[in-house]
Amino acid sequence: MASIPPDLLVTIAHTRNLAADITEFVLVPAAGVRLPDFTAGAHIDVAVGEDQVRSYSLCGEPGETGHYTIAVQHEAAGRGGSRLMHRLVPGATLMISPPANDFPLDEASPLPPRLIAGGIGVTPIIAMIRRLESRGRSYSMIYLSRSSRHTAFSDFLESPDRLGTIRIHHDGGETAKMLPVDEIVGPRTDAAHLYCCGPEALMKAVRAATRDRDPGTVHFESFAPATVADDAFEFSVEIASTGEVVGVAADQSILDALRAAGLDLDSSCEAGTCGTCQTGYLEGDVAHEDYVLLDDERAHQMMICVSRAVSKRLKLDL
Ligand code: FES
Repeated sequence: MASIPPDLLVTIAHTRNLAADITEFVLVPAAGVRLPDFTAGAHIDVAVGEDQVRSYSLCGEPGETGHYTIAVQHEAAGRGGSRLMHRLVPGATLMISPPANDFPLDEASPLPPRLIAGGIGVTPIIAMIRRLESRGRSYSMIYLSRSSRHTAFSDFLESPDRLGTIRIHHDGGETAKMLPVDEIVGPRTDAAHLYCCGPEALMKAVRAATRDRDPGTVHFESFAPATVADDAFEFSVEIASTGEVVGVAADQSILDALRAAGLDLDSSCEAGTCGTCQTGYLEGDVAHEDYVLLDDERAHQMMICVSRAVSKRLKLDL
């Protein structure tokens, strides 16, 4: 997933239990290493285990270069990266990448932004709150968490020092108990920027409910691997410039299939939120699963990390 090699050596200075299954890690640079500045919404890639890389949002004070703070949720059913992270103790070393930001705050907008967090998706939102408050700016925040036990940063969010309106809703982990999406996204006439980070179901609901807004004001971030629908089928993609045809298995993304065929392609989020893998297509039909393309762009552009063909073949403008 990582587009930037993890080449900064850091040491875990201390850890803290933030909520059930969520641990905070404070990372300090090793001798001779300089941590670059970062902006709210940024993430780092962390090398965990032999050849696994995971992306984590920075949740400390934007601009801080003495240390970085990340929070990691233990995913029992995950790919193993979070299990490895949760075994680490203070003193352990890690290789991390410099920060990158696919989810930046638009600080030019005068309206208080709406911040929507689900579960561990609260991490970049915390950095946004820190940044907004450092500038004396207000905001509204909706935080959907399973229960009070699963609510990270509750001491920070419930402090009377906060400058924004914060609503925490516990849904018991059930989509049916999620707040109505209209309450989550706020009034349709609201021109404020909206930032959403959380599980796929939340982001898809928010995306659907904001289709009629200016797309430049609706922002998403996700590090969860994109899920392929159970009824997905195999198809093939043709590379227009060479005529080469590459098969895409039912459980594989187009991006992965093309890389396996030897193409060198850029990506970042691999979750349909950043736009890095945007690719034109010339023939075929697409089921779009991204969060960034406009409806009219979808007639000829797609995000190959998440979107798939609904025809047996796609011709890609590569
Ligand atoms: Fe981010 Fe595909 S890599 S949208």
